[in-house]
Amino acid sequence: MIQQGKLASLGRLTASIAHEIRNPLGAISHAGELLSESNSIEKEDRRLLDIIHKHSGRVNSIVKSVLQLSRQEKSHIEVIHLSNWLKEFEKDFTDQLGLNESPLDMTAHTKCHEVFFDKNHLKQIIDNLCSNALKYGQTNSNQTTVSIKAGIHPTSQQSYITVTDNGKGIDKLVAQQIFEPFYTTSPSGTGLGLYISSQLAELNHAKLSYDENPNGGSRFTLLFSTAKPTL
Ligand SMILES: Nc1ncnc2c1ncn2[C@@H]1O[C@H](COP(=O)(O)OP(=O)(O)OP(=O)(O)O)[C@@H](O)[C@H]1O
Ligand SMILES: [Mg+2]
Repeated sequence: MIQQGKLASLGRLTASIAHEIRNPLGAISHAGELLSESNSIEKEDRRLLDIIHKHSGRVNSIVKSVLQLSRQEKSHIEVIHLSNWLKEFEKDFTDQLGLNESPLDMTAHTKCHEVFFDKNHLKQIIDNLCSNALKYGQTNSNQTTVSIKAGIHPTSQQSYITVTDNGKGIDKLVAQQIFEPFYTTSPSGTGLGLYISSQLAELNHAKLSYDENPNGGSRFTLLFSTAKPTL
C-alpha cells in the first residue's frame, strides 16, 4: 500500500511537471517559428532552428502523453464487437496514413467476438502496435507485413488480438525493457507508446505482452478479460 501511495504521488508530480513545461515550451517553439520566418537567417543558423523545432516537437509529444495518461484514471468500458471494430480500425488507420490501400493484413479474423473495453483505449493500443510494426518491422527488402488476428484462446476462452510483423524481432535483452517508460531505440521516438498501451490494457483488465512471432519478427498480444463488468 505504501508503494502504491508513492507511485500515485509520483504520478501526480510527473503530471504537474508536464503541465508546467507546456507554457515555456510553447514560447520556445513559437519564438523559433517567428525566427525562421526572418529572411536574414544564414543557412547554418537554419540548421540550428531545425534542431529547436524538432526537439521542442519531441518534448511536446512526451508532455502530451504524460498528461493524457494522468487524466485517464477511469475507463468507459463498453461492449465491442471485435470483427466490426477491426474493420473500422483498418479504415481509420489507412486514412490516417493517407494511403489508398490498407497496409494491414486482416484476413485472419472471421468470427465475431465481444469484448468489454474502452473504445478510445483500444484504438490507441492497436494504433500504437500497428505503427510500431510498420516502423520497426521492416525486412531487408523494406517490405513490412503487419497482420492482425482476433481469436479466442482455446483453453481459457479469453478473446485476444495479436499484431505481428515479419521484421527482425526484438532481442531478448531489449524485449525486457520495451514496456518501460521512455525506453526507445528510435531517435524520433518518445518511448512511451508501449508503456501507455500496457497501462491502458491494465485499466481495462486486459494484458499486453510480447513474444516472438513463430514465423520470424515480433508478436504483440492483447489478452482480454472474460469477466463481465457491470456497465
Ligand atoms: N514491432 C516491433 N519490432 C521491433 N521492435 C519494436 C517493435 N515495437 C516496439 N519495438 C521496440 O520497442 C521500443 C519501444 O516502443 P514504444 O512504442 O514504447 O516507443 P517508440 O516507438 O520508440 O516511441 P513512440 O511510440 O513514443 O513514438 C521501440 O523503440 C523499439 O525498439
Ligand atoms: Mg511506438
